[in-house]
Amino acid sequence: MAYYWFKAFHIIGVVVWFAGLFYLVRLFIYHVEADAEPEPAQSILKQQYTLMEKRLYRIITTPGMIVTVAMAIGLLVLMPDYLKSGWMHAKLGLVAVLLAYHMYCARLMRKLEQGECRWSSRQLRALNEAPTLLLVLIVMLVVFKNNLPADATTWLVVGLTLAMAVTIQLYARKRRRDKERAQQAESPAVEEQALQES
Ligand code: HEM
Repeated sequence: MAYYWFKAFHIIGVVVWFAGLFYLVRLFIYHVEADAEPEPAQSILKQQYTLMEKRLYRIITTPGMIVTVAMAIGLLVLMPDYLKSGWMHAKLGLVAVLLAYHMYCARLMRKLEQGECRWSSRQLRALNEAPTLLLVLIVMLVVFKNNLPADATTWLVVGLTLAMAVTIQLYARKRRRDKERAQQAESPAVEEQALQES
């Protein structure tokens, strides 16, 4: 029975952890894009995003990570033989990358607060795809274990995931370009109106 409890809360922890990681980097994107706003909106937005990022990291993301890892330790204590399996070694390697990503997000959060973040919103959008990829790989490993298939269906799932990530990037780029074009089209009209008024 204890094993099922650990597994249930392990999965709940995973959902909370990933929700936090996805939303955190989305907030970083808005935070960086606030640079394009005029004052005082820029300062107000940045202050608000800093607060939201800190709360999200402390109240959702890190507790999600702690619950996931604590429950995983419980699972391994009850089933120590999993530690001899190849799929578990691969999973632990990917989890190490995920933990490094989690810590890197904390570093980015501090840099953003200090106004020293060098990442563009486009780069942050690409970074936000990393946990998606890790999620897909880890879930595939834990479900298929050592029988991870390499057939057409698997490649279809991998291909669809990659296509989804690329589509999101392209759509975001299109929206950014449309916005820039609209701003460029607006500025001569505004200048003309200002001239007429003077
Ligand atoms: C701290 C590192 C982790 C360890 C040691 C670990 C270990 C385990 C173990 C032993 C199981 C039970 C497997 C079974 O009963 O078949 C499990 C289940 C599971 N883990 Fe993890 N896990 C870790 C992190 C993660 C992460 C980061 C994710 C998500 C990306 C994840 C997703 C899952 C899922 C979805 C299951 C349920 C699989 C099923 O019941 O078929 N785990 N984990």
